[in-house]
Amino acid sequence: MNQLAPPARTIDPRFAGGVAYSQGRYMPVGEASISVLDFGFTRSDSAYDVVHVKDGAFFRLDVHMARFAASMQKRRLAPPEGLSMIEAILHRITWLTGLSDAYVAMIAVRGRPKPGLPRLIANCENHFVAYAIPWIDVLSPEVQARGGHLWIAGTPRIPDESLDPTAKNYNWMDFNQGLMEAQDHGFDTTVLCDAAGLVTEGPGFNVFVVKGDTLSTSGHGVLEGITRRSVLELAPELGLAPRVGPITRAELEEADEVFITSTAGGVMPISRVNGRIMNNDSPGPMSRRMKDLYWQAHGREAWRTPVRGA
Ligand SMILES: Cc1ncc(COP(=O)(O)O)c(C=O)c1O
Repeated sequence: MNQLAPPARTIDPRFAGGVAYSQGRYMPVGEASISVLDFGFTRSDSAYDVVHVKDGAFFRLDVHMARFAASMQKRRLAPPEGLSMIEAILHRITWLTGLSDAYVAMIAVRGRPKPGLPRLIANCENHFVAYAIPWIDVLSPEVQARGGHLWIAGTPRIPDESLDPTAKNYNWMDFNQGLMEAQDHGFDTTVLCDAAGLVTEGPGFNVFVVKGDTLSTSGHGVLEGITRRSVLELAPELGLAPRVGPITRAELEEADEVFITSTAGGVMPISRVNGRIMNNDSPGPMSRRMKDLYWQAHGREAWRTPVRGA
């Protein structure tokens, strides 16, 4: 029996570059805006999360929703849209773009104090914004193929005691300073150490070190990345023992292999760390295998949620 192909869907051309949701409305992403009076703008007072869509399905959407809920709670943000409505909005914005591979962001914003009330955080009307846009990689595919060049920044990571890194946030000025240092030295990106010289994370990614059969990543000063979590869960399938704990700057510089992980790009091999050139200036074998396994794992039923229409 012949299978009929599903009818082709017509995508509104205004939505080709991405779709946003704000205040109950769906719109082309370029039309979404935020008030200059919003504490989300003037104080970076927000919490967010990013999930990717690959081959028409969200990757580990349940884990992203749980992390977003926890980030909002830590920041005392409670937009009127509840979690199940937020999830429905993510489906809708992605479906409207017609994209099968997408970067989907959800953001809870503080808002501004209600008219006539004192300028207190508690008096702000929180709101929710989301957008789905074409795929984004932290390192371009060309850089991933040759291995990224990672600069260890002189700028220390803001301490966990000052800013909880497990609540995903836009307080990025320490990262930005590190990125400027990396740029000045001709490197692709940067990793920040804490005040004690222990490795933390970089702008939009966690860092992994392979030494022998052990795969290590930092347990403090970091966002608990969902790519990181997936890699830790997949490590035994490659015969690697996962370890979450302190990594010194020297351990990073003397690693057999280094790779970084992010929803925006997956597992991305590193070939240079400051002056050190690794694996003949190319991605290491374990990093390549982990990258392949991570993308294959996108086919596992438990980790995929197909994007729903309407
Ligand atoms: C600071 C920071 N660390 C780590 C990550 C990686 O987290 P995930 O793998 O959940 O994307 C991100 C992602 O944007 C990030 O912003």
